[in-house]
Formats: sequence, C-alpha cells, structure tokens
Amino acid sequence: MKGLILSGGAGTRLRPITHTAAKQLVPVANKPVLFYALEAMRAAGISEVGVVVGDTRAEIEAAVGDGSRFGLAVTYLPQEAPLGLAHAVLISEAYLGDDPFVMYLGDNLLKEGITPFVEAFAADRPDALILLQKVADPKSYGIAELDGDGRVARLVEKPAEPRSDLALVGVYLFTPAVFESVKAIVPSARGELEITDAIQHMVDRGLNVEPHVVTGWWKDTGKLEDMLEANRLVLSTLEGDVRGELLETTLEGAVAVGPGSRLERCTVRGPAVIGAGCRLSDSFVGPYTSISDGVVVDHAELEHSIVLENSRISSLGARMTDSLIGRECVIARSQARPVAYRFLVGDRSRIGIL
Ligand code: G1P
Repeated sequence: MKGLILSGGAGTRLRPITHTAAKQLVPVANKPVLFYALEAMRAAGISEVGVVVGDTRAEIEAAVGDGSRFGLAVTYLPQEAPLGLAHAVLISEAYLGDDPFVMYLGDNLLKEGITPFVEAFAADRPDALILLQKVADPKSYGIAELDGDGRVARLVEKPAEPRSDLALVGVYLFTPAVFESVKAIVPSARGELEITDAIQHMVDRGLNVEPHVVTGWWKDTGKLEDMLEANRLVLSTLEGDVRGELLETTLEGAVAVGPGSRLERCTVRGPAVIGAGCRLSDSFVGPYTSISDGVVVDHAELEHSIVLENSRISSLGARMTDSLIGRECVIARSQARPVAYRFLVGDRSRIGIL
C-alpha cells in the first residue's frame, strides 16, 4: 500500500500566515501539521509516500526532504493548480499504479492515526474506505448519509441543507477502482474535481464503500480556531521535558523547554511547549501555548496561543490570548510620541485591541 499526502492548496482561511508559508507547515505543538501525517503513514507500515504539491512546493520539499528522516521514501507530485482533491488523485495515477493507497489531506490531524483503518481496509478489502465523524457545522464539510443498514447512501460536498451531520474526515483509502471515477466526474460549483463526487460515483457504480466512524478527535486545521484547538488537543498529552536554562522560574504542569532557551523570572503553566534558543524574561506563559524556536518574550503574559519562529513579544499592557503570531513578528509597547497604535500588518490580519 502507498500513501498520498495532499499538500497543495492555498490555505486562504489562514491568511496572512499562508501568504508567506504553506498551511501544512504551520506548527501544532511546535511540529508542522504535515509531519503528523508523515509519521502516521510510517506508523501504519507504509513506506512509499507521494506528496502532492502546488505553489509552496519548495518550502514543503525543504521541510520534508526525501522523507528518510521519517523512515519514508517521498516522491513529489506537482499539481499545476488547486483543481480539487480528485484532481490530485488523477495526476498521481502513474505514481500509485496498481497499488491500493491511503490519501491523507496534509492539514488534517487524527488522534488515533491511521493504523486501525489501514488494518480494516486490508482485512475487509472494500473498494474504498471512508472515515466519518459527527460535526457541529456540516455545511463546512463533505457530508455522508448512511442508509438503515449503515451503508453509504449519498455523499454531498458542503451541502447548503445538510441531511446528516457525519462529515468526511480528510483520510480516504482506495483501490485503483477510484481512477475510473475521478475521470468520470465533472468540476463542482467551486470549479474543483471533488473527491466526494468521485466516491459518490463509486457508490453509484455498485462498488463497496465502507464507512468507519472515527471516535478519537479529528481536526481540519484550515482555520485559526481549529489550529488553536488542535494545539490544545496535542498539548494535552505533552510530557514535561526541560533542556533549557531556568533562572528564578516556576514551571507548573507539563512544560517542555528546548535546548539553548533561557527563562528568567517567569512562570510557565503547562501544558506549554517552548522551542530552542528562546529568551523569556519577567513573563507568564499560560496553558495551551506553543512557542517556536528563537522567540523572545519580555514583560508579557500570553496563553492559548501559537507563536512562530523568531518573533518578539514584549511589554504588553494586557494578557495575549487565542492568537496565532507568524514568523519574525514584533508585538511591543512603544515609547514613541504621539501615544498611538502603530501597525504594519499583512492582508487579512486580525487584531483585537482593548
Ligand atoms: C475537504 C473535503 C471535504 C472534507 C474536508 C475534511 O474540504 O472537500 O469533503 O470533509 O476536506 O478536512 P476543504 O478543506 O477542501 O474545504
């Protein structure tokens, strides 16, 4: 069995972060979302993985390389434009050949990984296996309706009037029978070849599409709120591990501090992870915070936030919460006159002031 990880996509709902970075590389608990997918593949015994890439190919390749550090052989499959998940399958046909494969959307995160589903697929030998989970906002997902016997009756991509709340999780297992269906469907209203339509086509052909309900948590990290929730869920299983230097600093609960980091006169209340080479002083870091490498925090309080590499947060007048801060950002109190807010922010930034 091969793996196919989709890592194209523009990440429009995470702008401005995704103006300059691939959404699959935004870290959750200081690890890029995409790496969880690669690790899940390996844990399921898959060693050959195709990664479908778009405009952010160079960045993804720089992060993942040839896959050897994940114990994988990775092949990059360029998709010329984000024409849909089924289009990604279409362009991957030569790579996948006659092998069954598991397709994993690179911005999805599943607590239980994919091993149980890969095993069920091998045991039951359906033509396709789909994962489902109940969601509160079914209009945002592909939605499955099951019949009285629990079989897949109908699949609709982001229905205006959902008839079920069972969403398609972004992990799908297929036999090569899927290729006939991805070739038969036409683009949706959003101009994409939808994998949801391709699976419906498989159902209509009388093929066996086996549904599995996912019981552990699942997150599509496409939006800020979902990133923060994924960060929360991963950090809740964090184990304390201090490699940096602590001076007059109190750690409460599970806190990880990377090598070369120095914390002075701080309180860190876990779960929280602080990367390598950070400088924190006279500050409070509260639960569910992930601070990437090289960040400086000085006279500030923050919690329930993700801060990316080499940013600086200092002398805030209030606690920062529910935030995603990009790379090399500066958020600081200024002494300049007139006393005023001064911003240099990217398109689609969101700033909440007191
Ligand atoms: C895609 C699929 C959708 C699925 C979702 C899971 O949506 O089209 O069927 O439920 O992933 O993450 P998108 O992220 O493209 O909006």
